[in-house]
Amino acid sequence: MEKKPTEILEEEHHIIQLVVGVMAALAEGLDAGKGPDCSILRDLVEFMRMFADKCHHGKEESHLFPLLEAKGVPVTGCPLGILIHEHQSGRKLVMELAEAAEACGKGAPEANERLRASLQGLVNLYPNHIWKEDYLLFPMTNKILSDEEQRELLEKFEQVEESIGKGEHHRFVTMAEVLAEQTQRL
Ligand SMILES: [Fe+2]
Ligand SMILES: [Fe+2]
Repeated sequence: MEKKPTEILEEEHHIIQLVVGVMAALAEGLDAGKGPDCSILRDLVEFMRMFADKCHHGKEESHLFPLLEAKGVPVTGCPLGILIHEHQSGRKLVMELAEAAEACGKGAPEANERLRASLQGLVNLYPNHIWKEDYLLFPMTNKILSDEEQRELLEKFEQVEESIGKGEHHRFVTMAEVLAEQTQRL
């Protein structure tokens, strides 16, 4: 078989971690009194909404998790219930980040505080969430799913990519790399 579905998700985790690193650097910059770069913030919001949520969480929540549930994994508690709850917390934080990005450049100090809180919230949430998936959920997934089920899941993942649009995945990978590079230079 080509790549396993969990390998695709793990690769996406690496891209998301790059962007989490950017958010950590921005939060540190705010602590050091640096004003936020509004265009970076807008890119962060677009990346988190499209790549992290629609493309990545979409594959997990609409396809992987229901399949595991159908195979008898309980949807409440550990691990699925916790992971779904963390996706919801992530969405709320990205909404707050989007509001802060919109307020960006207006120079209100309380906007910077809200911005810092949403960035820090995401920095606290994601590495731990990704760890649970990489080390608990994905090994479990590969024990539970047959080769046939893995293949069907891959097809579903393809459909998610198609619904987002050809080339979009690659555009967001490049965006993450550029953001990480820009932040190193700040
Ligand atoms: Fe997830
Ligand atoms: Fe994930």
